[in-house]
Amino acid sequence: MWGGRFADGPSAVMREINASIPFDKQLWRQDIRASLAHVAMLAEQGIMEADDATQIINGLNQIAQEYEANGVAEDLDLEDIHMHVESRLTEIIGSVAGRLHTARSRNDQVATDFKLWVRDALDMVDSALAGLQTQLVTRAEEHADCILPGFTHLQSAQPVSLGHHLMAYYEMLRRDRSRFVDARVRMNQSPLGSAALAGTGFPIDREKTSSMLGFDQPTTNSLDAVSDRDFALDYLMAASQCSLHLSRLAEEMVIWASQPFGFIKLPDSYSTGSSIMPQKRNPDAAELVRGHSGRITGCLNALMMTMKGLPLAYSKDMQDDKPPVFEAHDLLGLSIAAMTGMVEEVQFNTDRMRALAESGFSTATDFADWLVREAGLPFREAHHVTGAVVALAENEACGLADLSLDQFQGIDSRIDNTVFDVLSVDASVASRSSYGGTAPVQVKAQIEKAKQALGLES
Ligand code: ARG
Repeated sequence: MWGGRFADGPSAVMREINASIPFDKQLWRQDIRASLAHVAMLAEQGIMEADDATQIINGLNQIAQEYEANGVAEDLDLEDIHMHVESRLTEIIGSVAGRLHTARSRNDQVATDFKLWVRDALDMVDSALAGLQTQLVTRAEEHADCILPGFTHLQSAQPVSLGHHLMAYYEMLRRDRSRFVDARVRMNQSPLGSAALAGTGFPIDREKTSSMLGFDQPTTNSLDAVSDRDFALDYLMAASQCSLHLSRLAEEMVIWASQPFGFIKLPDSYSTGSSIMPQKRNPDAAELVRGHSGRITGCLNALMMTMKGLPLAYSKDMQDDKPPVFEAHDLLGLSIAAMTGMVEEVQFNTDRMRALAESGFSTATDFADWLVREAGLPFREAHHVTGAVVALAENEACGLADLSLDQFQGIDSRIDNTVFDVLSVDASVASRSSYGGTAPVQVKAQIEKAKQALGLES
């Protein structure tokens, strides 16, 4: 490629460090698509003869068929996917292939190809997340009336609806999806025609290639366009945050599947056994989703560090932009798929959840609220009285609802029989009907909205 200037070929080490084909061959579809748009534009602008354009277009289409059928054969001497396509085009149509690179550079070419790839990746993640949300909503609807202990500090706090708990993850994923959608809007500008860094003197039509490639408009500054990788970072940031959410859900599954909790049974299809302990069912898929979040966030860190401090415009460091994005995308796709399967198939042990919700004095706050509302105590005093009642129940080794009215009145004479209405976990959950609260009526209303947003049948 630089035969005119360099007498010696690259050393073997140089060839290896310089080559991106082992990973950027993933971009072959985008590379050919962008070249087809470029050549059509060149012909329309009279920059290229129509005959030459036709030969190039036919050649590119043939290469696409070959790659589709056989994959891309890697040749480190040809560096990257752009050179592979051009070299094959030269084999097929001869020297006219050299006209394709008129009015462009690999710098705007790679920025365009990679953007097209990331744009598809954003769309794929968004629809995969919609699939996971659908499973969450489906399971939440089945279990809107089931009660489990809600935790703070992983200590039993107040009983909540299982549907409410699952819908919390629906909300996280809703925000994740909005981040992927935002990223798509922000990145959808075409770098093609920025050339090496300064634009070109050829009378190109950037609007034309931009719209042919589904971009909203051409980028505004050629220096920025060839050196911008914000779109890749936006993808990785959204992916990282999404992976943190998946990791939290995975962690709940690991805890819930443990014997002391016994809240769920994970499906066989997402568990493994132990080679020496026959009783074990290990939540490997959930653990790997939790683990993958570390790797995905590592990919974000890698690209941030690569981009930090690069002067304008393109620098070869930027060739390292692709592996972390490809890796994160594979890991995220697998994590979402595994989580979707687990949520779909997990068995909830609702009796166990309820039994634990009923232990641990989880309705103590309801009792305190009752003292404020019905007996007119200031909350601080109610808190104190509740503490005494909890201590008594603890002593008697029973639940709050198992104490007798005499025992209650022994602590505070203002307590009457109606207190028993608020001591059950069902009453507790049903009472929390504030907007967004855990009362099944609220949860069901949120589920309805979610189903509409997802386009599901109500
Ligand atoms: N393989 C390169 C990359 O991925 C393409 C751009 C090369 N440009 C250059 N001037 N060497 O970044």
